[in-house]
Amino acid sequence: MRQHMRELIGFTAIFVALSLFLTSFVLAAGDDAAGQKLFESKCSQCHGKDAKGSTKMAKVLKVDPAAVDLTGEAASKLKAEEMELTVTNGKKKMPKFKGKLTAEQIQSVIKFVKSLQGASPSAK
Ligand code: HEC
Repeated sequence: MRQHMRELIGFTAIFVALSLFLTSFVLAAGDDAAGQKLFESKCSQCHGKDAKGSTKMAKVLKVDPAAVDLTGEAASKLKAEEMELTVTNGKKKMPKFKGKLTAEQIQSVIKFVKSLQGASPSAK
């Protein structure tokens, strides 16, 4: 009987650990998907779907195409917190998103941008 209890507890512990492990994956994936969605709807018209910057919009805005490339060297050096501040308050021709996106949404969109920087370093 005691042996049986011990086995039951053991199985339960493994089951709980496994569920937590899987849940964390699902949550992390959901987070990225939300950030990507936001990026595509709010940022890609200027920064491009891949965040490498829209040369067309750079021309329209009369800015250096490198300024809208979020995967480039300059942007890769920025900390996530600095980028969040820019998105919140704007910077030159970069519009501010205060009041349009929540702090959580800005964090998740920057997390997505940062994941692109890590995954595909700019060819420059
Ligand atoms: C209307 C076009 C436009 C949209 C929309 C836009 N941006 Fe920008 N963004 C710019 C421009 C232009 C710059 C370059 C600003 C400068 O001259 O330093 C920029 C710069 C940035 C930078 C670099 C900031 C820095 O500190 O150097 C980040 C990060 C950024 N944008 C993130 C975003 C995110 C995230 C979104 C969507 C929520 C977004 N942008 C939407 C035009 C835009």
